[in-house]
Amino acid sequence: MEMEMGARQMAGFKPFYQFTAPTRVIAGEGLIDSAGFEFTKENASRPMIVTDGVIRETGLIDRVSAGVEDGGLEIAGVFDDVPQDSDTEVVERLAAAAKEAGADSFLAVGGGSVMDTAKAANVVFTHGGTVRDWEGFMTLPRDRDGMGRPEPLAPLAAIPTTAGTGSEASFAAVVKERAENIKLEIGDMALFPELAILDPVATETLPPAIAAATGMDALTHAIEGYVSSEWNQHTDAFALHAIRLIRDNLERAVTDTSDTEARGNMLAAASMAIAPSGSGAIGITHSMSHPCGGHFEVPHGVANAINLPWVIEFNAGGGEDIADRYRAISEVLDVDAAGDGAAVGSALAEHVRGLTSRLGLPGRLSEVGVPEEGIPDLVEGALGDGCTLVNPREPTEEDFTELYRRAL
Ligand SMILES: [Fe+2]
Repeated sequence: MEMEMGARQMAGFKPFYQFTAPTRVIAGEGLIDSAGFEFTKENASRPMIVTDGVIRETGLIDRVSAGVEDGGLEIAGVFDDVPQDSDTEVVERLAAAAKEAGADSFLAVGGGSVMDTAKAANVVFTHGGTVRDWEGFMTLPRDRDGMGRPEPLAPLAAIPTTAGTGSEASFAAVVKERAENIKLEIGDMALFPELAILDPVATETLPPAIAAATGMDALTHAIEGYVSSEWNQHTDAFALHAIRLIRDNLERAVTDTSDTEARGNMLAAASMAIAPSGSGAIGITHSMSHPCGGHFEVPHGVANAINLPWVIEFNAGGGEDIADRYRAISEVLDVDAAGDGAAVGSALAEHVRGLTSRLGLPGRLSEVGVPEEGIPDLVEGALGDGCTLVNPREPTEEDFTELYRRAL
């Protein structure tokens, strides 16, 4: 079949794609006790441990610290001041604290906010300046007058305590700029952590509501990655297997928090689901959710769970080549995908809404503090979001307004 001029290529062999997944992933129950032994292999000697107060309270940091010291490393300090929704001020404070303490590496123990804070702080720690100075994609200093490899950052390892964000294996960090209520993103190859330790022990105390929300973030990464215009053969493998793992493990992990196998598989799923984003494969669920967090503090996973089905319906109505991608996802999820694109989209969207509701998550933006008057600001944010450029169907301002109205 010949491609129409200007049509997006949603199948076949693409003219160009790039795939990178350089993070060394180790997975297994109880691996946090070997954190030091493993981090030594990445040249870390004196890590700054980065976490939040809630995680520290659980005793997890004591166990991780013992594991770090057991490997012969010295802990430069524990920075436990990362808030739920971290910001540039925290990042810059952490970078300064790590310098002050003579740290040579970072060990992030936490969810997306903690990991992104550590990653962004590593940039400021290594290259100086502020988060603003490095905002954007591929902005970090490179060898050969900017043409070579990015200069290395300090070694960074991550122990995720939620299964969702995938930041432990991603090239990006997102933090808030409080003055402007926007999210700043830094994305570059040097930001892939050297090491991700996927240990279900680290998600043992995760509250079900957070496991549910972060799990829906992972599902959103996988679905958006699979249907993005930036899809490719490599990312498809990661996306589809992540969807299978989430299908089989998310509800189990949320309903029975003692299910180690389900929690372990969700950690694997989350770190796979983020892989397409390294090829730029993501979409407008994220464009819609970022400003919900920026303006109204809606947790990222909750915003995605609410926005995802509306975006599926919008995209699936955008052409049969896009609908085919949703048909493949429906097959994996055992959703009846008969009929045209619109029918496929609404069946899959209903399935996602059902899952969200069984997980006990809110189904409407109005339930999580988004007022109708907020829509114009949200639309402006979504239109300007980088994720919008790689969505399979191009949304107009009116489309976003309608999508937010529906999600409200
Ligand atoms: Fe996300």
